[in-house]
Amino acid sequence: MKNSHGAPQKGPPQHWFFGNAREIAGDPLRYYAEWADRFGDLYPVRLLNHRCLVASGPEPIEEVLLTDSKNYRKHFVVRFLMPVFGNGLFTSEGDFWKKQRKLAQPAFHRAKIERFGQTMVAYAEDAARDLSPGETRDVHADLSRLTLLVACKTLFDVDMGDSANEVSTALKHLQDATTTRIEQKFPLPNWVPTPAKRHLDATVRTLDRIVYRIIEERRNSSVAREDLLSLLLGMRDDDGQPMSDRQLRDEVITLFIGGFETTSIGLSWALHVLATHPEVDHALQSELVREIGDRPVTIGDLPRLTYLEAFLKETLRLHPPAWAIGREAIADSTICGHPVRGGMSVIIPIFQVHRDARWYPEPDRFRPERWLDGAAKTLPKMAWLPFGGGPRACIGDAFAKMEMSLILATWLRRYRFEPDAIAPVAQPAFLLRPKDGLRLRVAARTP
Ligand code: HEM
Repeated sequence: MKNSHGAPQKGPPQHWFFGNAREIAGDPLRYYAEWADRFGDLYPVRLLNHRCLVASGPEPIEEVLLTDSKNYRKHFVVRFLMPVFGNGLFTSEGDFWKKQRKLAQPAFHRAKIERFGQTMVAYAEDAARDLSPGETRDVHADLSRLTLLVACKTLFDVDMGDSANEVSTALKHLQDATTTRIEQKFPLPNWVPTPAKRHLDATVRTLDRIVYRIIEERRNSSVAREDLLSLLLGMRDDDGQPMSDRQLRDEVITLFIGGFETTSIGLSWALHVLATHPEVDHALQSELVREIGDRPVTIGDLPRLTYLEAFLKETLRLHPPAWAIGREAIADSTICGHPVRGGMSVIIPIFQVHRDARWYPEPDRFRPERWLDGAAKTLPKMAWLPFGGGPRACIGDAFAKMEMSLILATWLRRYRFEPDAIAPVAQPAFLLRPKDGLRLRVAARTP
C-alpha cells in the first residue's frame, strides 16, 4: 500500500490516535488529509473508545464496498437515524434491504425518471422568478425548498405548496439533532428521554403526519399513477400481503430526505464555485447559449451539455455532499491482507479520497477540464465516489444528476451569482452542508 506521495508504507499500520475527539470532530477534513499523507490507504485510528480503520484508497474501498460487501453492514452511526428513517432503504440490512432495493430499483431507471424532466424545469423556472437582480440572498435555503418541492412532486405526485416550509424546518431540526447525537462523547441509547430526544420525537411526529397524509390520499385516490409511491403501494410479499403503512412511511421518508437535501447541498456548492470562478461560469454559459439559446432546457439537451456534466463531476469531487460513509465488519476478515475484527468500524472519507494527487493532479484546483481530456478514463474504480459504490450505492444518482443539470441550466441562463463578503464555511456534519447557508448576490445575465 502506498501513501499519496507514492512512498510505500512500512508494514501494517500501527498508529492509534488518542487525540481530542472534539477537535477532530471540529475539523475532520483536515485530519483525514493529514492522516492519509502520513499513513496511506488503510490505517487504524482510535476515536474515543472506538477502534476504526480508515480506508482512504481505491483498493481497500473496493474490497469493503464491493468485493467483500457481504461482510459489512452500515456503520453504527447510521443506526442513530433509525428513529427518523425506520427500516427504509438507507438503514435496513440483509434480505429485507435486498427485497426493498429490488422493488424500488426499476422506478429509478433512466428511462423511467426522464419523464420528470419537465416538472423539474417548471419548478426551477418558478423558483427563478423569486430571485431579483441586485439582491443578496441565502440561495441554499432557496435550493432546499426547490429540491424539496421537486422530490414531493416527482416521487409522490404531491404538490407540497405551503407545507414545504414546515417540512424544511422539521428536516433542519432532524439534522441538528443527529449532528449533536454523533458528536456526543458518550451517546445514550435512542430510548433515553433527554430533552433533545423529546424534541426529535416531536419533529418526527410532524413529518409522520405529513407523510401518512400523502399515503392516505393515495390509497383513497382512483387516479392511476406511475410514480414510486404507486409502485410501493402495489408491491406484494410472498404471502400476497401489501406493505404496511409503517414500512411505506419508512421508504417515503428515506427517499424524501435522500432525494432533496443531498441534491440541494450539491447545487449550493455548484453556485458557490461559479460565483468564485468567473472563468468556469463563462465557459458554462457559452455552452448553454450555444446549445440551448433562450428556450427552456429539456432532457434531450443534456447529452450535448458536456461541459455542464464535467462541471458537476468536478463539483461533486471537491464538495461531495456525503463527505464520508462508514461500515461495520460483521465477522473477522481482511482488507488488502490487513486483519479486521468483527464489529470493527471502517470509515471511508470520500472528501479526502477525491483530493488524492495520485489520481487528480493539482487536487485542490477546480478544473472541469480534467473530466474532458480523457485522463478520467484511467481512474481506479473507487477514486470518484460521491454516490458511494457497490450494491449499496445511491439509488437516486441518475435522478440527482438530471435534477442538478436541469436546475442549473435554467437558473444560469437568467442569472449570474457573485460572492458575498462572508464566504460559506463547509460544516462536515452528517452531510457537508454550508454552515449558516450560502449568501450570494444575484446579478442579471447580460447578453
Ligand atoms: C447529489 C445528490 C446525492 C448524493 C451525493 C447522494 C449520495 C449517496 C451516497 C454516498 C449513498 C451511499 C451511502 C452508503 O454507502 O452508506 C447514497 C445512498 C442512497 N441514496 Fe443518495 N445521494 C444523492 C441523491 C439521492 C436521491 C435524489 C435519492 C432519491 C431520490 C437518493 C436516495 C438514496 C437511497 C435510498 C440510498 C440508500 C441506497 C441503499 O442502501 O440501497 N439519493 N446516496
